[in-house]
Amino acid sequence: MDKLTVRDIEIDGKRVLVRVDFNVLLDEKTGVIADDSRIRATLPTIKYLIDRGARVILCSHLGRPEGKIVDKLRLTVVAQRLSQILGKQVGVTKNCIGSETGKSVERLQSGDVLLLENLRFHSAEEMDNPIFARALARLADIYVNDAFGTSHRSHASIAGIANYLPAVAGLLLEKELKTLGSILEKPAHPFALLLGGAKISDKVGMLENIMGKVDFLLIGGAMAATFLKAKSYEIGLSLIETERLDTATGLMEKAARNGTHLLLPADVIVADDLAAKVKGEVVSIKNIPKDKKIVDMGPQTIKNFYTELRRCKTIFWNGPMGIYEIPQFAEGTRAIAKLLAYLDATTIIGGGSTAEVVTELELTDKMTFVSTGGGASLKFLGGETLPGVESLLDKKT
Ligand code: 3PG
Repeated sequence: MDKLTVRDIEIDGKRVLVRVDFNVLLDEKTGVIADDSRIRATLPTIKYLIDRGARVILCSHLGRPEGKIVDKLRLTVVAQRLSQILGKQVGVTKNCIGSETGKSVERLQSGDVLLLENLRFHSAEEMDNPIFARALARLADIYVNDAFGTSHRSHASIAGIANYLPAVAGLLLEKELKTLGSILEKPAHPFALLLGGAKISDKVGMLENIMGKVDFLLIGGAMAATFLKAKSYEIGLSLIETERLDTATGLMEKAARNGTHLLLPADVIVADDLAAKVKGEVVSIKNIPKDKKIVDMGPQTIKNFYTELRRCKTIFWNGPMGIYEIPQFAEGTRAIAKLLAYLDATTIIGGGSTAEVVTELELTDKMTFVSTGGGASLKFLGGETLPGVESLLDKKT
């Protein structure tokens, strides 16, 4: 990596502001953290700083409060979970900037950890407002970006702040860039891209950028319906991206030109309703009823995908294969996750809902790497420059 990291900078006793991505999944009813992987993923950086006597000031967003204080998006629950994991008290401020926050920072001793309240309670954060960035910067001597999942956003705590403090990468950011970068540089072949989820539009940039390196492109999930429609199949009531039909055709043509073996579902599960008790029905893609929608991949498709994935040495997976939130339509996604967990291949899981699936099935340790970034990993693999990486200090060559 051509950017400086925490390892390259003197940090003993310094006040270090670390931008983390603690945008964790909360249980809608109870507000309890449903998945703390993003907190755990930052532990190497936090421990590294504690061990070197830094005064650690963490900052993050949670949800999209749009510049207003939203009590259920306070970071108190996150500070409590982090305290438990670290075995050390982590205080949380009432505001991420201001004189009271400054006083809390002044009270920090070497090795202490403090979490600032949700950055997005200030609209200035998302506007990359320089006054806000400066107010954050005044709290610290050094800035560390360890929020890979938010590094595609040009926000004050990600981009602007680097104008006011020496800015370096954290250990998680470094690991994400190295691992995802290895897909772009030298993936072991055969290399499969396994894509699901709702939209083609989120993934076009990545597909355009890495299609030339891919041996197998396997498409499931809701986005498969757009490809099937582009091939003139009846897709019933399945939602498609009508404006992306040409994109789908273009991608299929490109795959054929590049010699990429493209697999679409051969059969699917369809249903007329998404209610809890509704049972799906397996149909061939040639017989999708007009009054039903695709909700999952079928058993033959799972077999077909298995056959190809077993031969691969590198697999990148992004997007569920069906409506994963509804248990009876989660079979395809679960089957794929379980297969990947036991393959003798480099398995890299894109963040967002795909990472949540793997965590829920307790398969994280069985994968080579589970990214903490959903949108960020797609942008990075799409060859885009991430503002949160661009703003960091370059390594001297
Ligand atoms: C994410 O969950 O993808 C990141 O935390 C970024 O969140 P955002 O999409 O609300 O900017």
